[in-house]
Amino acid sequence: MASFVWELTDMQNVIVFGSNSTIARSVIDKLALERCNFYLFAREKSQLELQINDLKVKYPDINVSADAYDALVDTGEILNGKIKQAFDQLGRVDLVFIAHGNLPNQSACEENWQDANSALKVNGLSIIEICHNVAKRLKEQQQGTIAVISSVAGERGRQSNYVYGTAKGMINIYLQGLRNSLYPHNVHVLTIMPGFVDTKMTTEFKKGLLWAKPEKVANDIVKAIHAKKNVIYTPWFWRIIMRIIKLIPENKFKKMKL
Ligand SMILES: NC(=O)c1ccc[n+]([C@@H]2O[C@H](COP(=O)([O-])OP(=O)(O)OC[C@H]3O[C@@H](n4cnc5c(N)ncnc54)[C@H](OP(=O)(O)O)[C@@H]3O)[C@@H](O)[C@H]2O)c1
Repeated sequence: MASFVWELTDMQNVIVFGSNSTIARSVIDKLALERCNFYLFAREKSQLELQINDLKVKYPDINVSADAYDALVDTGEILNGKIKQAFDQLGRVDLVFIAHGNLPNQSACEENWQDANSALKVNGLSIIEICHNVAKRLKEQQQGTIAVISSVAGERGRQSNYVYGTAKGMINIYLQGLRNSLYPHNVHVLTIMPGFVDTKMTTEFKKGLLWAKPEKVANDIVKAIHAKKNVIYTPWFWRIIMRIIKLIPENKFKKMKL
C-alpha cells in the first residue's frame, strides 16, 4: 500500500523554507504521509533538530535534512550556498514550498523605518530572492513546483496592516510573472492566499467565524500543489470576500476603518 502511494505522487523531494511555521508543519505532515523526502530550512537550529527527530520517529522511511535560515541575514552568496547544498543533497527537486513570514506591528512600522524595512524583507524580498534562485535551478531540471504562502492582505492596502500587505502584494505580482515565465519550462508556480488562520502568528487575536484551522489550510495547499493550481484562496470563501472588498470604490474605501 505504501509503495502504491509513492508511485501515485509526483512530489518526492521537497525543500521547505519556514518549516517551523504552524501551517508548514501541517503541510509537511501531509507530504510525509506520501513519503516525500525533505530539506528543511527554519530560523532556529534547535527547533530544526526537534522537527527532524519528530519526523524520523513518525515516518521512518523518509529522508530529512535541514539547515538554519534567517530571512533577515541569509541573502546573496550565503543563501545561494544553502540552496545549492539542498539541491545537491536531494538530486531532483519536485517542490519548493516557502512559508516563512511575520506579522509586523503596523504602528511601529509607521514610526520607525527599520521596522517597516525588516517587515518588507521578511515577508517580501527574502521570498522573491529564494524564488529567483530556485527558478533557475528548476528551469534547468525542466520540472518542479514553487508554492508560496502569500495572504489576502496583499490584495488591498488597509490602514491596519498595509506594510505587511505591501510585501504580500509584491509577492503576488512577482509570482504572476514567474508563473508566466516558467510555464514553457514545465515549472509550476502556486500562489497561496490564506485568510485568517489560527497559528503561532495570530495567538493574540480573538477568533471568530472566519477563522480556519491550520490543518484545513494545509489540506487545501497539498491538494492545490497536486492539482497544479495557479492561485488558491483558503478557505475558499476568501475568494468571494476579497472580490467584494476589491469592488469598493477607493473614495469610499479610504474612509473605512479596516
Ligand atoms: N496565520 C494567518 O492568519 C495567516 C494569514 C495569511 C497568511 N499567512 C502566512 O502564512 C505563512 C505561515 O505563517 P503561520 O500562520 O504558519 O505563522 P507562524 O507559525 O508564526 O509561522 C511563521 C514562520 O516564519 C518564521 N520566520 C519569521 N521570521 C523569520 C525570519 N526572519 N527568518 C526565517 N524565518 C522566519 C517563523 O520562525 P520561528 O518558528 O523561528 O518563529 C515561523 O516559523 C506566513 O507567510 C504568513 O504570512 C498567515
